[in-house]
Amino acid sequence: MSRTVRNVEVALRRAWHPLCRSSEVTERPRAFTLMGEHYVAYRVASGELRVIFGRCPYRFAPLSLGAGEGNQLRCAYHGWVFDEQGHCLEIPSLDPGDTLPVRAKLSEPFAVAESHSMVFVAPDDPLTPLPTLKVRRLVDILVDTRCLRTKSADFDFGLSI
Ligand code: FES
Repeated sequence: MSRTVRNVEVALRRAWHPLCRSSEVTERPRAFTLMGEHYVAYRVASGELRVIFGRCPYRFAPLSLGAGEGNQLRCAYHGWVFDEQGHCLEIPSLDPGDTLPVRAKLSEPFAVAESHSMVFVAPDDPLTPLPTLKVRRLVDILVDTRCLRTKSADFDFGLSI
């Protein structure tokens, strides 16, 4: 008996998935979709990569509309500000001295890694470490499989695998 495995299968949450190219991630938050879920990737001031689930914990605004402010991220809707660990630092509508809600925190996937000029995400605890890919450059593969006729042209796919 066989069954169809879809790309939103729960079991796949414990595997590594490519999210985007490293070069696609800048200080400006950018939206991606993986396994039917929304993610936002951006870089903090040091250049370090951050990947979080793409909705604000308050009213679920897309965080890709927000703005990076150094090591912080400001939601575009009501202006909540989150630090590098996803903790809320500021809620503009609160009075001075008011307590920030404990649940005001960004959610993030279990693991994120950059390798081979790509960003990989494991939504839940991955069953294996991120595999080390031992493949040749993409252009060599395309030549060998006759997708390209020659290596003489200087192709740059922006991908080092
Ligand atoms: S939805 Fe993000 S601060 Fe309101």
